[in-house]
Amino acid sequence: MRTYLVTGGAGFIGSNYIHYMFRKYGDEIRIINVDKLTYAGNLENLRDIEDRDNYTFIRADITDKDAIAAIFEKNDIDRVVHFAAESHVDRSIETPEVFVHTNVLGTAVMLNCAKAAWELPDGTFKEGKKFLHVSTDEVYGSLPDDGTSYFYETTPYDPHSPYSASKAGSDFLVKAYMDTYRFPANITNTSNNYGPYQFPEKLIPLLINNALNGRELPVYGDGKNIRDWIYVDDHAKGIDMVQEQGELFETYNIGGHNEKRNIEIVNLVLDTLLEILPEEDPRRKHVSKDLIKYVTDRKGHDRRYAIAPDKIREKIGWEPETKFEDGIKKTIRWYLEHEEWLENLTSGAYQEYYEKMYGGR
Ligand code: NAD
Ligand code: TYD
Repeated sequence: MRTYLVTGGAGFIGSNYIHYMFRKYGDEIRIINVDKLTYAGNLENLRDIEDRDNYTFIRADITDKDAIAAIFEKNDIDRVVHFAAESHVDRSIETPEVFVHTNVLGTAVMLNCAKAAWELPDGTFKEGKKFLHVSTDEVYGSLPDDGTSYFYETTPYDPHSPYSASKAGSDFLVKAYMDTYRFPANITNTSNNYGPYQFPEKLIPLLINNALNGRELPVYGDGKNIRDWIYVDDHAKGIDMVQEQGELFETYNIGGHNEKRNIEIVNLVLDTLLEILPEEDPRRKHVSKDLIKYVTDRKGHDRRYAIAPDKIREKIGWEPETKFEDGIKKTIRWYLEHEEWLENLTSGAYQEYYEKMYGGR
């Protein structure tokens, strides 16, 4: 039975990945989820799998080397899937050092603890051990708005925000471990994810939450920045395929050629809400294009991201399964059906609850 150490599994992509893995492998695998439970970590995301015998949650900080080393000592870990990070660009503009601490130092600690646990006396590594570092396409910088160029695995790094700079730093550490020690790892660089369990600071859940509550929908700058959207389950599938079928030491870009301008997303979310919400639903009366408000642009706002997924498609056979029109409906339905989840996060009740539950441990 393979044992996975998943970091950041209580966050958006990590929790979707854990669900995906249990759907796919059932009792054939064991998952240990290590998460600090920052504001972005939410054990509610894992409520339906938390009682499984082959799942364990450990609250720990990835920058705490003693805590991470102890997890490797007590468990024979076969796979690390490293999601834990500070992930929001706007927050990184406010507090860059928090991003450097978690994303760079945290990744160094994860790499070092895995290396210590997996390295043999001759400097090679135990058979079959693998580390996958989950990263972003934002490390490649910003593309021109003319739709002619894409991010390839060979595109030079050119990060602009403190978030993407810290992710680039973490990617380079993984590359350094592979080059220096032949440490068995892969890196995936992925475009903007959307789907259930995404914290409502990110564009799509923020729009849904605000629209349902009749609050303004803030559109940065001219609203024409382009992001390349991928449904979170397609990303989870890509991560698993890279780890099991990819070549060690390689980087794979994961994206589905689904570029949209932000204002298109805003209009689509509003149209879809009006399509889905029944006439008698009281939330429907708030939903209106009048809520759209153009606001001051994000500092250093990257214009366009767009992934070329040729390598993962050709070498591994990965393809996205969810069309954006279907994925966005599924996502909006999920938020409509999980109003309490949203309320708990946005009211702060969730944080208080978990501080009380886990604070003294
Ligand atoms: P998220 O913010 O929703 O979740 C991050 C998780 O990491 C949270 O559960 C948080 O509690 C945990 N965490 C933060 N600091 C920690 C620490 N010091 N120790 C232990 N746990 C800690 O993020 P996400 O959107 O799920 O992103 C996951 C990963 O995927 C990140 O590495 C991010 O850079 C990358 N990524 C995200 C996107 C996207 O669109 N969201 C796209 C490409 C890559
Ligand atoms: P976001 O979801 O923060 O992801 P990222 O910055 O990592 O791409 O933002 C997606 C796009 O939406 C980005 O171009 C910024 C824009 N945006 C807004 O226009 N308004 C908002 O309130 C937010 C959060 C984002």
